[in-house]
Amino acid sequence: MPVMLGVRWEHPDQNTRCLTARSKNLLDYLEVNYPYPYDSKPETLNIPILAHTSSNPMCSVYGVDPAVAKMVRDGADEADSPWIGEHLTWLGTEPTGSLGYQINPLFTDDVRDVTINNIGKMREFYGRQIALELSPIYIDSPTYESEMHFLGDVAESADALIILDVTHWQIANLNLGRPADYGLDALAPERIVELHVAGMRLGSDDCWHDAHHLIPSEQIFDFVDRLTDELPALKAVTLEHQADAPETDFIRCLQRLSGIIGRNEGAHIDNAVR
Ligand SMILES: [Fe+2]
Repeated sequence: MPVMLGVRWEHPDQNTRCLTARSKNLLDYLEVNYPYPYDSKPETLNIPILAHTSSNPMCSVYGVDPAVAKMVRDGADEADSPWIGEHLTWLGTEPTGSLGYQINPLFTDDVRDVTINNIGKMREFYGRQIALELSPIYIDSPTYESEMHFLGDVAESADALIILDVTHWQIANLNLGRPADYGLDALAPERIVELHVAGMRLGSDDCWHDAHHLIPSEQIFDFVDRLTDELPALKAVTLEHQADAPETDFIRCLQRLSGIIGRNEGAHIDNAVR
């Protein structure tokens, strides 16, 4: 089954470059971040959609906001998305309900149980599968060996899919002084259906951070190459690149990823991702 190539859609300013990429046969889907607060609907671009959200604190003992969850469900239903991407986060900093720069949970047994319970309820509410993603990590896990082991355990116990954000993973390994491939063996390969790739930067705080205005590093491209070969259930690779970054970088990244994943041009999400 061919691996599809997509981009994260967060803002209407990305419409033009997404349509350009689509016309160049470099784009199989948009990964739309629901709910989106814009009148410009990405559905009108006539590009298949994968549903994602960064607005539900899946690790919170308070659960998620039902109004936000309904907007995510409506978007996924309209797109007939094969799964909904969710973040393993505790809470966010944004007044809108969006997690913004996500706050990680404590990776403990108690939080694992809360998270598994939330995932079960949300999957029932959505009526479709959930794929779990970790945020960048800055401090060691208190009881679990690592956040990757927490993700692997939660996904297994909740029977959830996994989005491996390669950039977040590499940021965590750098920030915590771990080898580049540390933690991969904590995830069941057959649960990983999607990769996220983006740029990263070293901050003045000496920590590595997500940087969607930059292109991915060579090491990130190398991991995509390796993981595309190794992961038996991989169906989608999503580039995260913000609208005010150069469009030439965006197109070049898609061209490169398209070659790396051996993409079958002309295939579409509606006949290949499911
Ligand atoms: Fe991501």
